[in-house]
Amino acid sequence: MSTTKVTVEMIRRMKGRKIPALTAYDYPMAKLLDEIGIPLILVGDSLGMVVLGYPDTTHVTLAEMEHHVRAAARAQPHALLAADLPYKSYETVESAVVNAKRLVAAGAEAVKAEGGREILTQARAIIAAGIPFLGHLGMLPQRVREEGGYHVKGKLTSEREALLADAQALAQAGAFALILELVALPAAKELTQKIPIPTIGIGSGPDCDGQILVTTDLLGTFPWFTPKFVKPRLNAADQMRAAIEEWKKSI
Ligand code: KIV
Repeated sequence: MSTTKVTVEMIRRMKGRKIPALTAYDYPMAKLLDEIGIPLILVGDSLGMVVLGYPDTTHVTLAEMEHHVRAAARAQPHALLAADLPYKSYETVESAVVNAKRLVAAGAEAVKAEGGREILTQARAIIAAGIPFLGHLGMLPQRVREEGGYHVKGKLTSEREALLADAQALAQAGAFALILELVALPAAKELTQKIPIPTIGIGSGPDCDGQILVTTDLLGTFPWFTPKFVKPRLNAADQMRAAIEEWKKSI
């Protein structure tokens, strides 16, 4: 376990290296990931599906995010602890700053919001308020209802150019890293080469500076849905079922 506190600057300097990042929604998982030396832990709004049982992330509230950020923060990780601004919590500059401050008060050390140039004023205001900002481009889960599903982005030249312009704008605004979700592999590679801050991919191929996964997908604790690009390293649900069956028979 590292004894050095990971800072935003350290993540920034990890450009070009393989940055492992994972999600945690509670104390034990944040503590475990930290003990393993994962430098960036995200309290993602994916908790809506894999913990709270919602159909997508658009149902997650700020109060729910605060609750889970508090739990993860109690692990006092050496890792940088980032948290998602949930659906419709950053529609205006004012709400973006107020709600980012609430996540920080709950224990987050950085916040993430989905979108590019359309949320640039919000991103700038969050950064101006002294809160580190993590961008999120490509497929934006909070737009799943508008877009009618989870689709790969950046296949068309126009989409690739728009992604690059968004990434450059966020980097210039002071974002310390960018999540690239379901970005076509050549676009993710080009973007990674052209922007000065680390890209952290999810379903965007091997050429990003880092990789992030929803930890429950990696461990198989939410077996009812696994994204196509994830290769679970453990089928924990099967082992849990077996252990509970064994206990049930033993009483
Ligand atoms: O909510 C989340 O867990 C995320 C990751 C998938 C990047 O945004």
